Amino acid sequence: MRIGVLTAGGDAPGLNAAIRAVGVMALADGHEVIGVANGWSGLANYAGRDLIAADFRGVVGLGGTLLGTARFDLDHPAGGRDQVLESISEHLDALVAIGGDGTQRISHWLAERGAPVVGVPKTLDNDLLGTDYCIGFDTAISIVAESLDRLYTTADSHHRVMVVETMGRTTGWVAALGGLAGGADLIVIPEFPLTMDDIVAHLVKRRNAGNAFSIVVVAEGVNLATLGGTEVTDLSADGVRGVRLATRGVGQFVATKIDEHGGFEVRTTVLGHLQRGGSPTAYDRIWATRVGAAAYHAVIEGDFGTIPLVRGATIELQPLSVVAYGQRGVPRELYDLCAAFF
Ligand code: F6P
Repeated sequence: MRIGVLTAGGDAPGLNAAIRAVGVMALADGHEVIGVANGWSGLANYAGRDLIAADFRGVVGLGGTLLGTARFDLDHPAGGRDQVLESISEHLDALVAIGGDGTQRISHWLAERGAPVVGVPKTLDNDLLGTDYCIGFDTAISIVAESLDRLYTTADSHHRVMVVETMGRTTGWVAALGGLAGGADLIVIPEFPLTMDDIVAHLVKRRNAGNAFSIVVVAEGVNLATLGGTEVTDLSADGVRGVRLATRGVGQFVATKIDEHGGFEVRTTVLGHLQRGGSPTAYDRIWATRVGAAAYHAVIEGDFGTIPLVRGATIELQPLSVVAYGQRGVPRELYDLCAAFF
């Protein structure tokens, strides 16, 4: 078989471990492995190359993706979807598409038209429906936790409020679990909106209780209107689902409002792409390998139109439709657990 692999959407630490799992297992069974460059654009304008064993050496701990990735709008008037279908039928016997909900919506569309596609769950935001694990999330929250550890000491020395903005497009997983691991004193996420009055009242209460500093974690996707600001509609476009939420500056907005209240010295840190760069954690390497291997087995069994999802400690093969439409938010009980430490 000629088995293609692509990574689409934003990169995430652990992608190479998943690519390696598919590639090493396929080569061992005598199949050809085709690395498709730069996500769906590498199928719309075919850019596949044969991968050999040497391509997978030393990559399990490397961040980024050895295939390259892109946010590519397949619904652009210049076209894309039909070319992708054609490329698959002309060049490949199967395709493993590693990506988040945008990627898997396309995988689902292709599979419905008979294309032999299997997905792999990846999004740093961790909000793919139906799975407890997405490639890259564990590394991201480890980076958030380490950053909070570092901000803690300087906040303590200067008796400051540190506002930390994390990634997370529509959900607050990175902020909530990174904040929980890093001992955040308040976490603001889209799922459970707070007003600026709530935020300031909490900081005043903490100060009155003798806490000279506070760390406030804010997810980049928090709605500015709920904070008393004006929601930005004219955002920088970057292709599929074309928004760059970080350009709205929600962390700085919160910091400015706390500052305007008076009585607090405030600083802002936007963690940005530091959360996506560098080596994956061991957990991301292991689970990326497991979901990559499961996707390979699905290909070999002819289970197309599916995606291996993590449920507890096991992997279940599910239809792509399970993940393709919507996002999984942080549940109330998890946010309440975070809030127990505010
Ligand atoms: O979807 C993953 C993500 O990292 C989001 O958390 C973030 O909003 C976005 O990608 C950033 O995208 P880009 O790398 O294109 O700026």
